[in-house]
Amino acid sequence: MLYGRLAAGRTAAYRSQIQAWTSRCSEGLFGPRRCHRRNAGVHTRCASQLDSRTAEVHKDEAEVQSSVQALSQMQPIMQQGRKMTAVAQAAWAGFVRTGDVVVDATCGNGLDSLWLARAVGRSGKLYAFDIQADAVSTTRHLLHEHSSEHPDDAQDFEVVQACHSNLKEHVREPPQLVCFNLGFLPGGDRDIITRPGTSVAAVQAALDIVRPDGLVSVLAYTGHPGGREEYEAVRALGTRQDPARLTVFEQCIANRPTAPVLLLFLKRSPGQ
Ligand SMILES: C[S@@+](CC[C@H](N)C(=O)[O-])C[C@H]1O[C@@H](n2cnc3c(N)ncnc32)[C@H](O)[C@@H]1O
Repeated sequence: MLYGRLAAGRTAAYRSQIQAWTSRCSEGLFGPRRCHRRNAGVHTRCASQLDSRTAEVHKDEAEVQSSVQALSQMQPIMQQGRKMTAVAQAAWAGFVRTGDVVVDATCGNGLDSLWLARAVGRSGKLYAFDIQADAVSTTRHLLHEHSSEHPDDAQDFEVVQACHSNLKEHVREPPQLVCFNLGFLPGGDRDIITRPGTSVAAVQAALDIVRPDGLVSVLAYTGHPGGREEYEAVRALGTRQDPARLTVFEQCIANRPTAPVLLLFLKRSPGQ
């Protein structure tokens, strides 16, 4: 909500900046170029100033608008007070399109994989990883069953029993989304758990291969032994990132301290 308010505030600020700049030219935001064509002598200076400024504002405005749009998709879910897994999926929805390549780095019982299989559709591709044989076979079974009943959803999936820190060895196309749901398998062996060293290595590998404008999403749990250290290690990786290359958002439920924390790493396009 805080991010939403900030973004909306920035939008209003940019709008008033645009209005202030464009009021200098009677033809509005796109006026300078037209003015320039009609009367180059009078408007050349105005045009060059406004062209660079409006380009900059357009870029910022577009970025703010897309954040606002993504956050507005999350708002109904946040208002319902639902789980952070639903908040994470709402964030993914703003990034994943039909035909995308996506990676579930911790497939567990396959629920996130199933969501992704629906989101990328028939032409998409899903890679799923888990170190546990049971998790891999549950996810594989779920995806096979789903794909045979839903031919419009992903038919191309690879479920790999491997540590996600090795994902570069298996993922052959740059993915649009790599998601991690850290911790242990619900209803499974609580000693088989993601660990800070391999989680950080895996998130770094995901950041290396994710497409520009793509997303790496990490849901980190702080309530179990070792969970807080793991969250802090992944967050520290986030704080070290160059903001020109990546924007790292953090979402938490402030009045539910044991709820997982969502870290979203947005890779920027070159030149953006
Ligand atoms: C919270 S569960 C994931 C839940 C899953 N996303 C779902 O929708 O059911 C975390 C999973 O991470 C797996 N895991 C633990 N260490 C891993 C590693 N190094 N590489 C890949 N998976 C790992 C666990 O076996 C467990 O199934």
